Amino acid sequence: MILIVYAHPYPDQSRVNQQMLERVSSRPDVAVRSLYDLYPNFDIDVDAEQRAVEQAELVVLQHPMYWYSMPPLLKLWIDKVFTHGWAYGRGATALSGKGLLWAVTTGGNHDHFQIGAHPGFSVLAQPLHATAVYCHMRWLDPVVVHGAYAADAETQHAQIEHYCARLACWKED
Ligand SMILES: Cc1cc2nc3c(=O)[nH]c(=O)nc-3n(C[C@H](O)[C@H](O)[C@H](O)COP(=O)(O)O)c2cc1C
Repeated sequence: MILIVYAHPYPDQSRVNQQMLERVSSRPDVAVRSLYDLYPNFDIDVDAEQRAVEQAELVVLQHPMYWYSMPPLLKLWIDKVFTHGWAYGRGATALSGKGLLWAVTTGGNHDHFQIGAHPGFSVLAQPLHATAVYCHMRWLDPVVVHGAYAADAETQHAQIEHYCARLACWKED
């Protein structure tokens, strides 16, 4: 099973993430937890989230990039759900061997993340990559959907199809 942990602060205003979700959530093996719908007061049900994660082989963190990082509720979700003794530490095996896929949309285009003054993408991925390694998860190559405002419809469509294809064959990654 694939669990998509979806964190869009304004799900009703989303254009790109909404299309991505619609495209992949028709798969029978995909479950979605939309954090801002579930927890508008940031009061995360840790037990429910851990049970959902336990049932998944692949955990996808899908969100729009906010200030080169993630929206605050997703950061809180990791802080609360990845507990000592469950996610990490002595005897913790809950996340062992599960895949972790970062699926992020950006306003900037591909080049925006290459120029010297801005950090490259692998640098931006480091905190999540390190978290995956620390919790014995399998870090997968991130899916990045660039150019939320500027990309033409065809490019956008191709990027969303790529996301769908990655979920279809993630075990081979
Ligand atoms: C508060 C805020 C911060 C943002 N920070 C970034 C950023 O650091 N880099 C970037 O490329 N886009 C940034 N964006 C643009 C969003 O990533 C973009 O609007 C989003 O990916 C579009 O997806 P959506 O149509 O699902 O909302 C930011 C947008 C907002 C509102």
